[in-house]
Amino acid sequence: MTKKTDLSVTFCGKKMPNPFMLSSSPVSNSAEMIERAFEAGWGGVAYKSMVTDNISIPHPSPRMHAYHYGEKRLAGLQNVEQTSDRGLKPNLLDIAYLKKRWPGRVIMASIMGFSNSEWADLAKACSDAGADMLELNFSCPHMTVEGSGCKVGQAHDLVEKFTATVRKVTGIPLVAKMTPNIADMNEPALAAKRGGADAISAINTVKGISEIGLDDLIPRPDVFGKGAISGYSGPAVKPIALRFMAEMAQNPELGLPLSGMGGIETWVDALEFILAGATTVQVTTGVIHYGYRIVEDMIEGLSDYMALRGVEAVGDLVGKALPRLHETGAFDVKRQGVAAYDLDRCVGCGQCYIVCRDAGGQALDWDAKKRRPRQTQDKCLSCMICSFVCPVTGLISFKEMPRGWKRRETVTLGR
Ligand SMILES: Cc1cc2nc3c(=O)[nH]c(=O)nc-3n(C[C@H](O)[C@H](O)[C@H](O)COP(=O)(O)O)c2cc1C
Repeated sequence: MTKKTDLSVTFCGKKMPNPFMLSSSPVSNSAEMIERAFEAGWGGVAYKSMVTDNISIPHPSPRMHAYHYGEKRLAGLQNVEQTSDRGLKPNLLDIAYLKKRWPGRVIMASIMGFSNSEWADLAKACSDAGADMLELNFSCPHMTVEGSGCKVGQAHDLVEKFTATVRKVTGIPLVAKMTPNIADMNEPALAAKRGGADAISAINTVKGISEIGLDDLIPRPDVFGKGAISGYSGPAVKPIALRFMAEMAQNPELGLPLSGMGGIETWVDALEFILAGATTVQVTTGVIHYGYRIVEDMIEGLSDYMALRGVEAVGDLVGKALPRLHETGAFDVKRQGVAAYDLDRCVGCGQCYIVCRDAGGQALDWDAKKRRPRQTQDKCLSCMICSFVCPVTGLISFKEMPRGWKRRETVTLGR
């Protein structure tokens, strides 16, 4: 593990050695597991969501389904898991143990109530156990208990009400966890702020159907012949998560610290969330795929990046991409470019020619003798799809054309 750079961050007033946290899920299910994660280097944990002992939620079996896409295993993960399988008491004892044994790491207890009094009881119990902060789960998309999970996250008055309830019984920081199954995350985030939240975390899983069996016609996971729309996570959801992160970070009215997650597997993913406005980042599916050890690469990668660029504190990177994030209407469309080809490196596969004809600007002909594309530059749309399919990295690049350069009109076959 590289130790050359200080990766510490302060989130909701709590200092942690790095911004990397386990997110609330089976990866953060007990002190025994979390202790191993802390030994590997994780800076904090959002403990698996807890409910009161008044309610027992049996789990469907099986509870997860892996979505492999081509060679990429676990491009996405579908799950129908709900809250902790364990009773409240053993979880509280584990939180107390962890806080004592690992005082420098952040222990965030995740709770979900089904009534005002349950939210209050859980919040008080977790604060008394020594949790540094609470994550309020307003976001699980497949709860079987009516009026809970993302149903709360989608009803802004309930987000405000339950946050305010919790605020009344504890002084520790409150982090409201948002559902992506909504058009505008700023609305529930602002409701949480009005209720007294100190920070926002996002995203929980995206409602989806990852796969349908072609022989048995059952959407997965196949729970004894039945499927259900349920939570989808992993690399496939990262663009959606980054979008919500940036939209909240850009909202001056919100102005709360953010904890980002959704598809993080590497230090690059994590850094993208930080650049989009997250102070801490959380991971589940990446750990389900590779284990706790991925944090070592995250620490090393982020350290090296910061050392190379002379960045002294992770905090200096938070939101740094936001000044460059605009509405599409802000683009300078007077500046135009084309795809430029380094044909000395061409292997003659012809894929660029096929995509340009079938999906691009019809800017390429094919020289069958030389096995090379021939570009009519002023037909090129700069869609760059030729570069996406070219097997030689960097052979096709974007080149800006001089101002005033014009693209040729497409020929019409009609009269
Ligand atoms: C199996 C599984 C169980 C989860 N359980 C919880 C939970 O109890 N509470 C919660 O807030 N989020 C839960 N999540 C959501 C994750 O914490 C996280 O928000 C989501 O998976 C996106 O991150 P990822 O792409 O790194 O997995 C769960 C996710 C998975 C895959």
